[in-house]
Order: sequence, then C-alpha cells, then structure tokens
Amino acid sequence: MTLLDFVPSLGSGAPVRLAPAVWPPDTHYDTEGGITLGGVALTELADRFGTPCYVLDEAEIRRRCRAYLTTFPEATVVYAAKALLTRAVAEWVTEEGVGLDVCSGGELAIALAAGVAPERIVLHGNGKTMDELRTAVRARVGRIVVDSTAEITLLSALPAHDQRLLLRLAPGIEAGGHPAIRTGGSDHKFGLSGTAVGEAVQRIGRSGGLRLVGLHCHLGSQIHDPDHYGEAVRRLVARMAAIRDEHGLLLTELDLGGGHAVAYRPGDAELNLAELADVLADALDVACARHRFPRPRLLLEPGRAIVARAGVTLYRVLAVKENEAGRRYAIVDGGMGDNPRVALYGARYDAVVAGRHRCGPQRGTTVAGRYCESGDIIATDIRLPADLRAGEVLAVPCTGAYHHSLASTYNGIGRPPIVAVRDGSYREIVRRETVDDLLAREV
Ligand code: LLP
Repeated sequence: MTLLDFVPSLGSGAPVRLAPAVWPPDTHYDTEGGITLGGVALTELADRFGTPCYVLDEAEIRRRCRAYLTTFPEATVVYAAKALLTRAVAEWVTEEGVGLDVCSGGELAIALAAGVAPERIVLHGNGKTMDELRTAVRARVGRIVVDSTAEITLLSALPAHDQRLLLRLAPGIEAGGHPAIRTGGSDHKFGLSGTAVGEAVQRIGRSGGLRLVGLHCHLGSQIHDPDHYGEAVRRLVARMAAIRDEHGLLLTELDLGGGHAVAYRPGDAELNLAELADVLADALDVACARHRFPRPRLLLEPGRAIVARAGVTLYRVLAVKENEAGRRYAIVDGGMGDNPRVALYGARYDAVVAGRHRCGPQRGTTVAGRYCESGDIIATDIRLPADLRAGEVLAVPCTGAYHHSLASTYNGIGRPPIVAVRDGSYREIVRRETVDDLLAREV
C-alpha cells in the first residue's frame, strides 16, 4: 500500500477542496470520497429522490440573508422571490428578517400562503393586472412599485387605504451580465420615462387612498461593479429633489432593486457587499448634500445573491460518448428543462462527480442534457474523470437561482423535486412533477 492508495487525489495533483466561491461552506468530501452538503451525501439524495434533483442548503440561504442585514443595517432588504420561491424559502428568509419582493399574483399567493406579513411584501411587475392589484391592495402589501401611469388609473379605482407606492424609473444606466437581463437603460420596457413622472406624482397625489413614498430602479442582473449602484443613487436622489421642488412632495425611500452578481465558476467576478455598502454610503452623502435632501431609507432587492450558491443540481450520467469532431459528451438525464440559463444567456457552469474525489486522469468533457436541441448544454469543456461512466451522479453547483423558477416541461419531462438539507437531515419541499401532473391539465 502506498500513500496514493489512501489519498488518491495526490496522484493527479487535482484540488481536493470544492471551490468556496461556488459551493456552500458546508460542502465536503466525506471519507469515502463522496460529496456531502449540509451533512447529507449527495449520492444518497440522488438514490432516494431520483435525478435530476435540486438540492437546497437552508443554512446557506439563511447565512446570505444575515450577511445582507449586517452589511446594510439601515436598509430594508427584500428578497426577489422570482429567483426561487417555495413556501419553505419564503419562511426561511422572513424568519431571518428579510422581506419579499413578488412580481405576480402567483408569487403573492405563495408568499401569503407561507404566512409572510403583507406589510413586508413589495409587489412588482411591468404589467400588473387589475386582479393582481386588487389582491395586493386588499392584502395591504407594504409597497406597490408602479411601472406605468395606466397602473395608477387601475389603482385609483380600488378602495385603497393609504396604499404606499414607489415609482419605478429608468435611470439610463446600462449594466448587467447579458443583454436580456439589463433593465436600467433608457430603451427598455421597464419603468416610467422622465416626462411621465410628473403626471404620475400628480395623479397619485389627487387619489384619496394612494401615497407615493419613494422611487425605484432595477438596473439589471449579474452586476459586479458597485459603481453602477452609486450612479443610480446620484441620479435618483436628483429626481427626488426635483419632485420635492416641483410638487412639494418629500419622498423618503429609495429602492435600488437587485442584480448583485454571484460566481457560477471559480474566478467569476461577484459583487462584494462591503464595497457596495461603502459606495452607496458615499453616493448618498454626496447626492443628499448637493441637493440638500434628507437621506432616504434604502431598499435592496437581491434575488440570486441570496439563493444561487445554496443550490446544487444532481444529474445521472446516461451515456459517455465521443462525436466525429473528437468532443467527449456526458449525456445526463436533465438539461434545458431544469436549467435553461445556458441556452438563454450563455451561462457557464462547472460540474463534478458527486460520488468520488476529483482525482486520477481527467478529460475535457461537455455535459449535455437529454432534450432535443443542440443548445441543450449544461457545461462546456470541463474537466471530468477520463473513466467517467454511465450511472455516475454529477453535481452542478450554484443552481439555486432561476433554475426551479425558470424550469419547463419541455419534451414532456416533469420538473425536478427540491430537497432541502440542514444539519445532516433532508426533506423534500417540492415533489417531482409526474406525467399524471402533465395530463391533469388537459381537459
Ligand atoms: N428586483 C427586480 C425588480 C427584478 O426585476 C429582479 C430580477 C430582481 C430584483 C432580482 O435580481 P437578481 O438579484 O436576482 O439579479 N432569469 C435571469 C434573471 C432575470 C432577473 C429579472 N429580475 C437569469 O437567470 O439570470
């Protein structure tokens, strides 16, 4: 016996640690070489619940909520539920003291079903229906973010009592990781234009039951340069001062949306929260002094940065093969139905074998899904064991945000379950969608 027999990873020189930037802190290789998350072996979950399977680390979500609350003690933090919403997730974030941003009647219903206090809910959406607005006003949600003057017409027709509103503006800042997720420039569908703001302020002022309390913007997603947010503060405080000067209305809240970048692969840039806090504090100081404007209360709406790293998706390898061009493919039993982000945004992921150390000879491999499109890729040209076999389980980190929520039933394949892990135990919080579920919708 040599040392290599005991610690095989020494032989390859490959790292035995899982990259902390993309895996939750409580992810380890156990003594048999398999990966555990929250004290639970990933292969055990694959066997018990089948694959593909979303695994969610409750402790990581709670930790991220606390990181926001301690880094921004004077701000109101609301989790953007569109990244991932189940009743359990809503409970965890609200237990930690974070509010909830919802963008549809469906998300609002899930939040209310989870027992989230309506006061802590912010309703968004660039196209809200009368039904959604009626439900939100009836429930007395904390804030409604108005996206058009047409919405004010609808809201004015409802029996509202001091319903607080924010106006969403387009600050004219282009930022974000992909054109499809940039929303803060001047040529997008979101928010009110500068000329519509005056009319909106007046109409809200004339309505009996509505009260405008602040401005909102959301620049986009996967923003890692905090200066974009500093610029948003400068531009929006100037707009708040103009509203005060022109309409005699003193707004007290400034919602900067979400969009904080996370790393999907080691080395990816992410937004540093402490740096963001410094940039925001400086920008507020300067802008408020320049306009002699009282410091507004900030609202932050992180979605991805709360849940992305808490999620790991498990797939089982169905086949390993090489094509004419010499590219090796690992075909797995999921794909663009549970992760459309590669096809939609050119997102890049890493994957590792869940049941054994990253050791021995590795080979360039593209992990592809089972859906009938060439764009159905999970990870391009990553390093996987040269002897990777059908039947092994692959784990893809950083899949907690916009995976379950973007999943589809394409190709007649039901959506995966979500299994939450915590302190060595696990529970299924969303079950797998079955063919019976799919057939049940047909009338
Ligand atoms: N607030 C508003 C008004 C938003 O529209 C969004 C995201 C957020 C907050 C949260 O952004 P986050 O912190 O998660 O970046 N499906 C795309 C992301 C779309 C984001 C849409 N709005 C993706 O998978 O990258």
